[in-house]
Amino acid sequence: MSGPSIDRSSNRPLVGRWIQIPSMSQEHVHIPVMPEEVVSLLGGRDDEETPSGLLVDATLGAGGHSALLLERLPRLRVFGTDQDPEILDIARRRLGPFQDRATLEHCRMTELARRMRKLRLEAPIGFLMDVGVSSLQLDQADRGFSFMSDGPLDMRMDPERDRTAADIINRWDEGDLADLFYFEGGESRSRRIAAAIVEARRRIPFKRTGVLADVIARAVGGRGKTHPATKTFQALRRAVNEEGDELQAGLEAAETVLADGGVLVVISFHSGEDGVVKRFLADRAKAGAWEVLTRRPLKPTPQEARTNPRSRSACLRAARRVRTGEQPVTNQDSASSADQNTGAFGSDATGRHGKSRLEGENR
Ligand SMILES: C[S@@+](CC[C@H](N)C(=O)[O-])C[C@H]1O[C@@H](n2cnc3c(N)ncnc32)[C@H](O)[C@@H]1O
Repeated sequence: MSGPSIDRSSNRPLVGRWIQIPSMSQEHVHIPVMPEEVVSLLGGRDDEETPSGLLVDATLGAGGHSALLLERLPRLRVFGTDQDPEILDIARRRLGPFQDRATLEHCRMTELARRMRKLRLEAPIGFLMDVGVSSLQLDQADRGFSFMSDGPLDMRMDPERDRTAADIINRWDEGDLADLFYFEGGESRSRRIAAAIVEARRRIPFKRTGVLADVIARAVGGRGKTHPATKTFQALRRAVNEEGDELQAGLEAAETVLADGGVLVVISFHSGEDGVVKRFLADRAKAGAWEVLTRRPLKPTPQEARTNPRSRSACLRAARRVRTGEQPVTNQDSASSADQNTGAFGSDATGRHGKSRLEGENR
């Protein structure tokens, strides 16, 4: 597979056909983001036969992108992984019609290269990461991701993780909480919010999202266009799920396993995450390991942003793996750097490694 075609004038992939989204039941309410771009980038050039081989969907979710890829590219097989077993069950039902073309596993990106090696999978020709949280997770109050509906203060995508959002809120000291909200959520009122949380938890520990959202709203006052707890909740979710480390591990896993000429597509929803992807690809391209296919990130069209408002902040970057005489290590014994990247959140467990776009603002 030598890669997709990009329209250099618009920096968008050339899409030959309009993509049909496979029919969705009520259960499948997560609409895949930038579907045409994803299929086009992973689907080979317009002038080629459809590609044949394995594709890794490292953030399978409800299987929206994978269903589309399997439907549109009949010679493709998918190895789909997600760290959330509940969502994986939805994907299993959705991808059932594709039978032996889809292999699904519960797996975090930090474990992915090792898992693929253990299963002795072939080197994939495509690798998709659509990072962050699914609408299905956000909309389920009992998962604790939402400030809009009350639920337990949990936020773990993988229930096997030890630490919940309540653990962080009730145990971290005030300075670390403020740093977390500032660096991982871009929350400029982080100190005020951290002080209010520490004051409130002296009386009674936090257990519910609703109480936390109220304390934050009272600390910073008012309601503009977005709820005052939005950035604090985002920062907490990123910490609970170690999203910074997981993204880095996913990029390294892609570099480890992709076949020569294989294509990586990453969709992120946070300017800090997009910066990590951009820097990773730029640095590794200098070393000759990647050819970057998207000079600037692709964004949803205005029409997609209108019909799927959750796509609005999406940024898509893609690159082609270049191997100059090296072999993919999927079937080898040595541990990859991605395997070893299982440390705690950031460099010091407070998110100081991940400076946000708002760094430098007065807080
Ligand atoms: C935005 S959704 C993906 C939606 C999917 N592309 C679709 O079209 O249905 C992100 C998914 O990635 C999963 N996820 C996030 N971080 C992960 C990680 N580090 N390892 C494995 N899965 C992860 C989440 O549980 C969630 O289901």
